[in-house]
Amino acid sequence: MNLSELYEKGERVISEQSYGLLLEGVETGFVLANNRRVMERYTFRQSVIDASEATTKCQVLGVELGTPVIMSALTMPIPAIAENGLMKVALGLKETGSLMWTGTPVPGNLKEIAATGVPLASTVKPFKDRKKIFEELERFQDAGVTWAGVEIDVGYGTKIKDRPIVSDCAPLSLAELKEIRKAVSGTLIFKGVLSGIDASKSIEAGADAIVASNHGAHTLDYLPHPFQVMEEIMEVARGNTVVIVDGGFRRGSDVIKGLALGASLVGLGRPVLYALAADGQNGIQSLITEITAELSRIMALVGAKDPASVNQDILIRD
Ligand SMILES: Cc1cc2nc3c(=O)[nH]c(=O)nc-3n(C[C@H](O)[C@H](O)[C@H](O)COP(=O)(O)O)c2cc1C
Repeated sequence: MNLSELYEKGERVISEQSYGLLLEGVETGFVLANNRRVMERYTFRQSVIDASEATTKCQVLGVELGTPVIMSALTMPIPAIAENGLMKVALGLKETGSLMWTGTPVPGNLKEIAATGVPLASTVKPFKDRKKIFEELERFQDAGVTWAGVEIDVGYGTKIKDRPIVSDCAPLSLAELKEIRKAVSGTLIFKGVLSGIDASKSIEAGADAIVASNHGAHTLDYLPHPFQVMEEIMEVARGNTVVIVDGGFRRGSDVIKGLALGASLVGLGRPVLYALAADGQNGIQSLITEITAELSRIMALVGAKDPASVNQDILIRD
């Protein structure tokens, strides 16, 4: 199945289910619409003379990947979409040289997922019961996850349309983030940075990477798309921490914009759900393969030889 078919079928299948609500945005729906609006402000500076093939291979935080296109943090509603859904996602991502990322709830079979050999990131919410955060971080490390993280942006929970979804959370302080740093011996990621101030505090706390994200429109209404704050984030992050971005990325043409604005990796949330619903493990493989092929084609046409060499010069902004 090509990307258009995957998306069309996946959206149709999911929208007919009760968990279809999980794909909506908070309150007015502004954030979801704005994500696409901002993405579409950028077009490409073509450079075809002397164009040559590009590679999408990259190494980020010691992990070799075949593509900078990875999964964003999520668990729900994967088990409801397909039987053994999390394993299907893991195997599909592994096959394509991508990375898997679990969210809430932390899957019971995390060890089994990690044992597939897929590079695996896992994040925990800032639960009011702080003990639970540290327990989950320990569980991640016992399971052998590649990167462990905390969702710093859900201190006031998540909300979809008018309905609160997760509410047992409270904002983390800088001092608590430093404690979390001490509890994680490997790579530590803070997800949900949308300003230079939070990027700077994340670096001070010792984050190896940050995810510039508006949490897929599940926290505050009227949050910007990460691209709108990428400059201030990159100003403090460049050379100090790795930046990953997500929010509204659907095609290779979107991914290259994320790389151009400074991200090392680009995450896909809803597309993973659509692909799984449309065609199971094959759907996941098609999703990553197709987006990566689009990315590689565009890289060649803008004169970028690998993901790390994609920079802002390739973009023309409205
Ligand atoms: C159904 C659903 C569940 C999600 N669950 C989590 C989660 O548990 N933890 C988290 O950090 N982000 C979660 N997210 C947000 C994603 O990690 C990601 O930031 C967002 O979906 C990216 O935008 P996109 O869906 O437009 O690709 C979820 C998103 C969706 C759509």
